[in-house]
Amino acid sequence: MSLIEFQDVSFTYDGETFALKDINLSIEQGEFVCILGGNGSGKSTLAKHINALLLPDKGSVVVLGHDTQDQTMTYFIRSHAGMVFQNPDDQLVANLVENDVAFGPENLSVPTDELRVRVSDALANVGLQGFDARETASLSGGQKQRVAIAGVLAMQPQILILDEATAMLDPRGRKGLMRVCRELNEQGMTIVMITHYMDEAAQAKRVIVLDAGKVACQGSPQEVLTQHELLERLHLDLPFAAELSYALKRAGIPVHTTVDTDSLKEELCALASKA
Ligand SMILES: Nc1ncnc2c1ncn2[C@@H]1O[C@H](COP(=O)(O)OP(=O)(O)OP(=O)(O)O)[C@@H](O)[C@H]1O
Ligand SMILES: [Mg+2]
Repeated sequence: MSLIEFQDVSFTYDGETFALKDINLSIEQGEFVCILGGNGSGKSTLAKHINALLLPDKGSVVVLGHDTQDQTMTYFIRSHAGMVFQNPDDQLVANLVENDVAFGPENLSVPTDELRVRVSDALANVGLQGFDARETASLSGGQKQRVAIAGVLAMQPQILILDEATAMLDPRGRKGLMRVCRELNEQGMTIVMITHYMDEAAQAKRVIVLDAGKVACQGSPQEVLTQHELLERLHLDLPFAAELSYALKRAGIPVHTTVDTDSLKEELCALASKA
């Protein structure tokens, strides 16, 4: 059964311009999907449909077997489909870091002992050990974003939706969050990640590219993120390995086009050892 199912979904904010137009897609249990697309292509609008923050004007969104139009299921859907938003200032709710991270699981009636463990595990996962008693207002943008991510992780949702959640993180923070997401995904969590970083998208199992509210293409990172001209048309870059493989080919070095840095490295080492 699909965990997330969009059927013929269209949505407008103003009754005129389509932010989403005839979207059909399904995301299965345990998938790691990246949603890509230029500014204004509809990524955040799509994410907000997954946890019933927005409801379709036309078509249906079914999450964990429940239509998001069914208001009796809104709480259930929001507690199982945890979302980290683009702007952390929009989602910190408490004055102290530990209270903020505990807010979600507390509302799910997680017992106090387990709550403590969840809060400290979640803070460790985002590299904020020891920040428990800090005031959220005193944190930097990236630290606030980490607290917001920890708050959602502490809810242990079945579906984790990250809307450019790494945008304010430093490179090490971004890598750390990707590692945590991969581990959670290996443990069975379904991950939907919106990102402008192609090297993050290259690590997903599937990428879905939006353009003007429509699905422009989808497939494995290797299938989609090696298509030079298509990506350029969709305002996207190639991941590092694909960019380098094209540059090497243009320079006459016979390598495959790949999104995987390790396999490009191996191919180059093999060529170098023959030379
Ligand atoms: N609250 C709103 N009111 C009116 N129009 C909106 C609102 N939010 C988004 N839109 C419009 O809907 C379209 C899709 O916006 P959305 O925020 O989903 O794009 P996005 O792909 O997330 O872009 P970005 O990469 O900039 O975050 C855009 O044309 C945008 O101007
Ligand atoms: Mg957005």
